Amino acid sequence: MSNLLVLGTQWGDEGKGKVVDFLAPAFDLIARYQGGHNAGHTVYLSGKKVVLHLIPSGILHPGKICVIGNGLVFSPQAFFKELSDLRGLGVKVDEKRLVLSRAAQVIMPYHPLMEKISESARGQKMIGTTCRGIGPCYEDKIARWGIRVGDLLEPAVLREKIEDNLRIKNKIFEAFGFPPFSTEEIYREYADYGEKLAPFVQDVSVFLHQQIKAGKKILFEGAQGALLDVDFGTYPYVTSSSCTAGGVSTGLGLSPKQVQAVLGITKVYTTRVGSGPFPTELKDETGATIARKGDEFGATTGRPRRCGWFDAVAVRYACRINGVDVLALTKPDVLEELREIKACFRYRYKGSVLTDFPSDPWILEKVEPEYRTFPVWSPSIHRLKNFEELPSGFLDYLHWIEDTLEVKVALISTGVGREDMIYLKDEMKKILGEKAEFLGRE
Ligand code: GDP
Ligand code: IMO
Ligand code: MG
Repeated sequence: MSNLLVLGTQWGDEGKGKVVDFLAPAFDLIARYQGGHNAGHTVYLSGKKVVLHLIPSGILHPGKICVIGNGLVFSPQAFFKELSDLRGLGVKVDEKRLVLSRAAQVIMPYHPLMEKISESARGQKMIGTTCRGIGPCYEDKIARWGIRVGDLLEPAVLREKIEDNLRIKNKIFEAFGFPPFSTEEIYREYADYGEKLAPFVQDVSVFLHQQIKAGKKILFEGAQGALLDVDFGTYPYVTSSSCTAGGVSTGLGLSPKQVQAVLGITKVYTTRVGSGPFPTELKDETGATIARKGDEFGATTGRPRRCGWFDAVAVRYACRINGVDVLALTKPDVLEELREIKACFRYRYKGSVLTDFPSDPWILEKVEPEYRTFPVWSPSIHRLKNFEELPSGFLDYLHWIEDTLEVKVALISTGVGREDMIYLKDEMKKILGEKAEFLGRE
């Protein structure tokens, strides 16, 4: 039985929340390693929709420990709101079940304003961010101006760091016609957060090493997706963190050797929120049908998601850079309303064939996808639970995806509910061992 990394292989919203919630019973801890409350991970608790932004998606399972690593950018406001929403639903969340890294970066009130200035300066080329202050908080981390969770617990340090930041930042805000921030006001608010957060705060690296030594197993939960990774995504139309496998090590203080298996999640079509190249995008009635049937609206911002066909060039790339061992396919039921299904297997660019995903956005913007067409299967697979019941038309599509990506499918999601899941026991056993028996349990 291994520690397992679960991550998105597209531009986010592949169904990570649902898959993590499904797999959680086989693990002791669920840990987030990057991103922030730009994430929106949907899970269902007794038929009620819950969207998690900062707290790992294992939290709905009593007894599981959830960890927020140093690689995240942490909004105290978002955290306390999520905590109170969860408690309102009857979920027991306390410091025994939730651990926050003292080295996580804190999103400060000036970060969303920095983002607003930056996005409007880009004009037509704006990234279309979630406006949560994610990018500027990571900028401050790399530029070494960041304020960390541990600083909130040390009043004198906190005040000095706010003062240092505002000495420069207020000049910029004033130049753009915005009023300056007050050190005192921010200090009072954030020192108060520090007091309230203190029970949750730990050295996460030490904590996880102790857990591993005690034989506990960790499920690592990626946010966003490989194509939004700051290095490997469609730069600059990306998020500001390392969503790919390497982020686990730097985002939690663990050796890369602690990630023993990688499960990549892919929708059987593609979506993207915000700007940036999207070769298989459908701007027609078919795209609109997928958006409606798939309820493709951002779980965080409510923005409509752009929809398109499955892109095997992009997902093959994601499988390569993450070392994906097995795949989870999500939302196949959404395609059942269409007349036919297409999937891109390679691109053409200036007359030549491309089978590797290009890293330059100006190439990606101009590639022409080549498609293979599949008939829509019947009967419907919506909410099916057994592999044996899957129609041969769907299996043709599934086997084509496996062959094209050279990765086996281990999970097939067939609806929004926790129980709407088919898992291939042999494939799951390869990564979970005897713990595969825990799957599907509460
Ligand atoms: P995440 O960010 O990767 O966790 O994904 P989101 O929660 O943002 O978006 C995935 C959406 O698809 C959510 O509304 C899920 O409830 C839904 N979903 C997940 N799996 C399936 C599925 O197999 N079929 C359908 N119809 N919806 C699904
Ligand atoms: P989950 O975890 C989809 C996108 C934004 C924007 C770009 C940068 O739910 O899959 P940011 O606010 O991060 O600086 O925005 O990244 N984006 C997501 N798209 N799912 C997400 O998270 C996303 N998080 C960020 O739309 O294009
Ligand atoms: Mg999402």
